[in-house]
Amino acid sequence: AGEAAPLTLADYARSARARLAPAVWDFLEGGAGEERTLAANTEAFDRYWLRPSVLRGASRPDTATEILGRRWDAPLAVAPVAYHTLAHPAGEAATVRGTAAAAAVPVVISTFASRAVEDLTGRGVPVWLQVYCLRDRAVTRGLVERAERAGVEALVLTVDAPHLGRRLRDVRNGFRLPAGVVPANLTGGDGFADPSVHAREEFDPDLDWTVLAWLRSVSPLPIVVKGVLTGADAVLAIEAGADAVVVSNHGGRQLDGVPATLDVLPEIAEAAAGRVPLLLDGGVRRGRDVLTALALGARAVLVGRPVLHGLAAGGPDGVTGVLRILLDELTDAMSLAGVRALADITPDLLRRSGDR
Ligand code: FNR
Repeated sequence: AGEAAPLTLADYARSARARLAPAVWDFLEGGAGEERTLAANTEAFDRYWLRPSVLRGASRPDTATEILGRRWDAPLAVAPVAYHTLAHPAGEAATVRGTAAAAAVPVVISTFASRAVEDLTGRGVPVWLQVYCLRDRAVTRGLVERAERAGVEALVLTVDAPHLGRRLRDVRNGFRLPAGVVPANLTGGDGFADPSVHAREEFDPDLDWTVLAWLRSVSPLPIVVKGVLTGADAVLAIEAGADAVVVSNHGGRQLDGVPATLDVLPEIAEAAAGRVPLLLDGGVRRGRDVLTALALGARAVLVGRPVLHGLAAGGPDGVTGVLRILLDELTDAMSLAGVRALADITPDLLRRSGDR
């Protein structure tokens, strides 16, 4: 008997771990510092229970939504993760193909994507570009213009990385990118072998909110600000012209000790007051987690590590498998909870454990 077919995202994680070199697994999986924030992201979902409504005729739940003027098959997107070729030789090309086979939802490619953006667009799913505004603005501008020409539909400006977080697993492992794993869309795109060196030399620790106006001057694409954790910063992002905000702690990889994204979502939803769509990432591992995030104010969630697990475990088919499991779990939970469509989701759907 071979490996049993994966039934959960945890099954894919196990399979990926068995296939990847330990130091690569640690790079994908790890967080900063003591990994308290990393652990909190998943634990936060477990503090909520669902309050189902029965006899609502919810046999065929509709998961579709519309965000930034585009229809999404489900309130899900692939989070930007650097260097997919670490997990599979076809890298981001396999991720895009695998996603398109599962659902029409956006794939956000990293500034440090390891496949050319021209090979990723026009393949059935919207591609968004995550932007690190690097010290060398000409390089950043070149990246954005190239992506726009290729048909990228939105920019996701990551604001939680004035420098790279201190990821102790990588320090202990002396982790370096394997030969051939390079950022395919940056000019002068090699010499980045040590991810902590590239970040030290290229990231701009002096960025402030004027970076949004600069990015706006460079590109007409919608700008999504990723990495906000307080209501006050969400307001600043909206005032600076963000078209959407991603509540994110970078999957626990930047400042260890910040709260789980799910736990700050209500504060941010209140501050944003519906002016822009809110997305959330960090710790989404089951379809019902999507329901929980939506009930607390997110319009959609992004999924990071699990997509790389699928990629490592089975290439494009693994990515399809991971996203299909999430979608199946989501529709299963919606049907059983009496949620016919995403518009039915309200805070009433939740009970926090310990609440009376
Ligand atoms: C990331 N993330 C990330 N974010 C970003 O804006 N640019 C990037 O290049 C990367 N690279 C990256 C690499 C790896 C290996 C991981 C695990 C994560 C963060 C990512 O977009 C997202 O915020 C988290 O991964 C979401 O948490 P989960 O779904 O992994 O728990």
